[in-house]
Amino acid sequence: MPDHLPPGRPDAADRSAPSAGTNPIIVAIDVPDLDQAVSLASRLEGEVGMFKVGLELFGGYGPAAVERIAEYGPVFLDLKLHDIPTTVERATRRLSQLDGVEMLTIHATGGPTMVAAAVEGFGDAGTILAVTVLTSLSDEELARVNMPPADTQVEALAFMAVDAGAPGLVCAPRDLGRVRSLVGSDVAFVTPGIRPAGEGDDDHARAATPTRAMDDGATHLVIGRPITRADDPVAAARAILADL
Ligand code: C5P
Repeated sequence: MPDHLPPGRPDAADRSAPSAGTNPIIVAIDVPDLDQAVSLASRLEGEVGMFKVGLELFGGYGPAAVERIAEYGPVFLDLKLHDIPTTVERATRRLSQLDGVEMLTIHATGGPTMVAAAVEGFGDAGTILAVTVLTSLSDEELARVNMPPADTQVEALAFMAVDAGAPGLVCAPRDLGRVRSLVGSDVAFVTPGIRPAGEGDDDHARAATPTRAMDDGATHLVIGRPITRADDPVAAARAILADL
């Protein structure tokens, strides 16, 4: 364990990984229109493990977006909450009442009290996932906001979040191995930036293949365009699953 981190939870290394169920694919429904989103979800029902609803759909349609998509499978609600602990606890409590939300994201940089408040508020509705450092932030940009380089922060934030009670983390593929060995194996590891071999990386600086990410310890894979922009999204999802 790196010196700059606090002592680990004593049983961290012994715990086993949560089951990702039979299907670790979370398909990112990144479309602006709810009917389009529902159409995608209905085609992919039973073919993927979960549907990711993000700020665009939630911003446009609110809880109705979750309710409609949840008719076709569990929802990963990616709102990346970051506020004072009381506000986050009250927000997660309200969101826990939405049927079908199984995972909800928060920012680890809100600190341990905020992480604990989110977990408390969400209760047993599902899994709170802490995001460490946005991969869109370069080290230069982090310096502009007086923060250390991403590599320095990721481990400390991941450790802090799990220590504060977060049962899961959102993790870039390149960070999976070292973060996983640090926080133990019963933590859910949700990884975006996934590209099947032979496909372009789009805007991902460091994409990983589905197999590589699972081998490195991911429990769930967030996959958007390789499935949603395919001529046949069902075939694309099946091909990825068959490779795992
Ligand atoms: O289409 P694509 O597979 O690239 O979609 C990835 C999804 O994962 C998008 O919804 C994007 O917002 C999300 N993402 C993320 N964190 C990153 C990169 C992508 O949550 N570092």
